[in-house]
Amino acid sequence: MTPSIPPATPSSFGFRRDAQGRALLGGVPLEDLVRQAGVGTPAYVYDLDGLRSAAESLEKSFGPAPHLTAYAVKANSAGSVVRAIAAAGAGADVVSGAELELVLGAGVAPSSIVMSGVAKADWEIDLALERGIFAIQVESVEELDRIAARARALGKPARVALRLNPGVMADTHAHIATGHDAAKFGIHRPDVARAWAVIDREPSLVAVGVSAHVGSMLRDPEPYLAAARVVTEAAKARHEAGHRLEYIDFGGGFGIDYGGAPSAEPSAFVAAALGLLAERGLSSLKLVIEPGRSLVGPFGVLVATVIQSKRSSERRWVMIDAGMNDLLRPALYAAKHRIEPLQHAPGSGEWRVVGPVCESTDDFGAHPLGDEAFEMVVIRDAGAYGFVMASEYNGRPLPAEVFVAGGKVVKTSVAPGREDWVRRRLGA
Ligand code: LLP
Repeated sequence: MTPSIPPATPSSFGFRRDAQGRALLGGVPLEDLVRQAGVGTPAYVYDLDGLRSAAESLEKSFGPAPHLTAYAVKANSAGSVVRAIAAAGAGADVVSGAELELVLGAGVAPSSIVMSGVAKADWEIDLALERGIFAIQVESVEELDRIAARARALGKPARVALRLNPGVMADTHAHIATGHDAAKFGIHRPDVARAWAVIDREPSLVAVGVSAHVGSMLRDPEPYLAAARVVTEAAKARHEAGHRLEYIDFGGGFGIDYGGAPSAEPSAFVAAALGLLAERGLSSLKLVIEPGRSLVGPFGVLVATVIQSKRSSERRWVMIDAGMNDLLRPALYAAKHRIEPLQHAPGSGEWRVVGPVCESTDDFGAHPLGDEAFEMVVIRDAGAYGFVMASEYNGRPLPAEVFVAGGKVVKTSVAPGREDWVRRRLGA
């Protein structure tokens, strides 16, 4: 199937260029935003209005169907981002106790939070039980036993869902495919009956749902549906055995266009999921989805300064002050993010863009930066899995973050800098 749905976001949201060719975010020149924020580079800049609007359109796409959009906080855990998405009516999908504390602190209702993760520590299970979240999504039969023990110890029944491994290989980078037989995630199909049996004989466990997440960067709903059908059959079988569930969760994974390869809109995935539930007579179940990247990726950029350029016999290189420690995706998944001059539109001349880290994989690839001189560049579509995966490798402080709403900077977050790094490492 070829995705044919055009982007739904109004043109002022996210990244674009003005008539003079200047790079804008949320309608404002990025250069002005960075100056206004008073931060150096590298700096992530996020369009809060854009991501909030994306979350609102997604909410609307459910119509009257019972649902929960559980934003996958791992994609971007900045408080301003979580609050903006929650304001659009979304809940959260968390994968650690810290993420749970974060979303609770941001005001997300416990009844709108699901917790996933293959290795939840006892304290994380305890926190989920104490705070009474919507469901703990269980990834193995063995984990069910541990949750039951914690629930008994705390005297609090545990609302659990089975995260199934649907046995589906999504057509995506191997590192972000999670729903196939060899993946560590989820309960494999032959073990599902055993998992229900554990729940049925354990009074401290209340089975409320079934879930799956087949992988990330899905470009059309077909692989999503392939996994969803497996989950739907499991829910149907559970109902036929006389046990009603409250919800069904098909996970996240909706792709975005990093340049040249369009993805279907998140609403197309929702429509496909609702269609499947209707077909299988399961429309009364609450439909939970766990989008991360699609809500935030297009609404963040990483701004960097050119440190120097270099010409060798066949290539020209440009060295920027952002590296793989700031944006890991190219080094980890061979991902390509468009890189363009900040002050004027890209031209046709190619440059190889690399960072300062002493690793060959600190390489952002070749980009048409053109022949006109440029001092700063913008790395596009960096709102998801950008800052959250950053590190201080090579003694490089974490990048700054700048949050924009209503055409101005509303918050700036500056990570501990170089002196702090030196002090901490000396003290280690
Ligand atoms: N739910 C579960 C259980 C997940 O494991 C994930 C992502 C999501 C939801 C959200 O998926 P999304 O809608 O964002 O695709 N660091 C990689 C992506 C790793 C995704 C991990 N799990 C990247 O930069 O591409």
